[in-house]
Amino acid sequence: MSKILVTGGAGFIGSNFVRMLLLGSDHEVVNVDALTYAGNLENLTDVERHQRYAFVRGDIADPVAMDAAFAEHRPEIVVHFAAESHVDRSVLDATAFVRTNVQGTQVLLDKSRIYGVRRFVHVSTDEVYGSLGPWGYFTEETPIQPNSPYSASKAGSDLLVRAAVHTHHMDCVITRCSNNYGPYQFPEKLIPLMIANALEGKPLPVYGDGRNVRDWIYVTDHCEGIRMAMEHGKAGEVYNFGGDAERENLFVVKEILKLVGKGEDLIRYVKDRPGHDRRYAMDSSKARATLGWTPRHTFEAGLQRTIEWYVQNRPWWERVRSGAYQDYYAQQYGRR
Ligand code: NAD
Ligand code: DAU
Repeated sequence: MSKILVTGGAGFIGSNFVRMLLLGSDHEVVNVDALTYAGNLENLTDVERHQRYAFVRGDIADPVAMDAAFAEHRPEIVVHFAAESHVDRSVLDATAFVRTNVQGTQVLLDKSRIYGVRRFVHVSTDEVYGSLGPWGYFTEETPIQPNSPYSASKAGSDLLVRAAVHTHHMDCVITRCSNNYGPYQFPEKLIPLMIANALEGKPLPVYGDGRNVRDWIYVTDHCEGIRMAMEHGKAGEVYNFGGDAERENLFVVKEILKLVGKGEDLIRYVKDRPGHDRRYAMDSSKARATLGWTPRHTFEAGLQRTIEWYVQNRPWWERVRSGAYQDYYAQQYGRR
């Protein structure tokens, strides 16, 4: 049993990871999250009273707050999810992306070194590799060529982790994953936005020609990969994870409409995202060969399951859309 400090555990992937650790291992979990617009404690209501769980509201870019969290909890392992994660927001204003993704990662590396953390897992993204043409895959050797302020800030954080390994001999691993989908994803990202709009009979905005390709992975398959990299990864190594499920956006949107029982007349072609990456595709053979990892969900099964979750948990996303989810912290923990 280890004490694991998870950053960003109130977000989409982080909350699925916290749940996996609490229900599927005997590790203690300390969730450090600033509760930005993307942080939602309602993602964790089923496990928030677990005896091996603690929550700390804190900003990873604040060295004083992080010093206090590390001093109090003395984690053995850090799994770092916290980030500004939405590309469109980074196009509008990159300030928070640089602060959280770059500066925040360095603060966590510094505190991890000072407090003797034995393993640091940095959760990164395939977007650091840039964009692909119609052929080929990203491997761990693909040069870093980020195109958006979001991916540039993630690439910056990857390089800081690399430097911590090289300079301070820290035991860090970097995971890079393709597009996740599944329960508790904030309905600003493609799949949950399209499901929620389809369920409400609202227009589905498709950027550009809708032919951009993403490699979709069900969120618990990603979480499983992170757990394996945490347990068996080699210090200084990078591990790619992908879902083996490349799909054009338009195909994804039409599948959602079909499964929700709505017509394609809801599709609206809108102005393209500036600098829109055309295609991502991951080669995960290193993770398969060295960690024994494999994704368990096909895209069809994962999408069906995800739609069922959004249908059954309508109050969850309605409270996100209305903003009511942001009152939950005050109700549970009192005003700061
Ligand atoms: P998310 O936006 O759903 O959640 C981010 C979480 O980080 C939120 O709980 C937020 O409150 C918290 N946070 C933000 N700024 C913070 C700060 N300064 N201090 C403390 N907490 C802060 O993100 P997600 O989609 O769950 O992604 C999690 C991680 O996985 C990110 O690092 C992202 O780059 C990476 N990733 C995401 C995907 C994807 O498809 N969503 C794919 C590959 C990698
Ligand atoms: O590849 C991993 C990355 O996947 C993560 O690192 C990011 O955190 C995550 O947000 C995601 O980035 P994308 O930009 O690929 O995801 P998003 O859901 O925003 O968009 C997916 C595709 O759908 C992309 O080609 C843009 C398009 N899109 C998106 C939205 C929100 C639309 O056509 N319409 C939309 O309304």
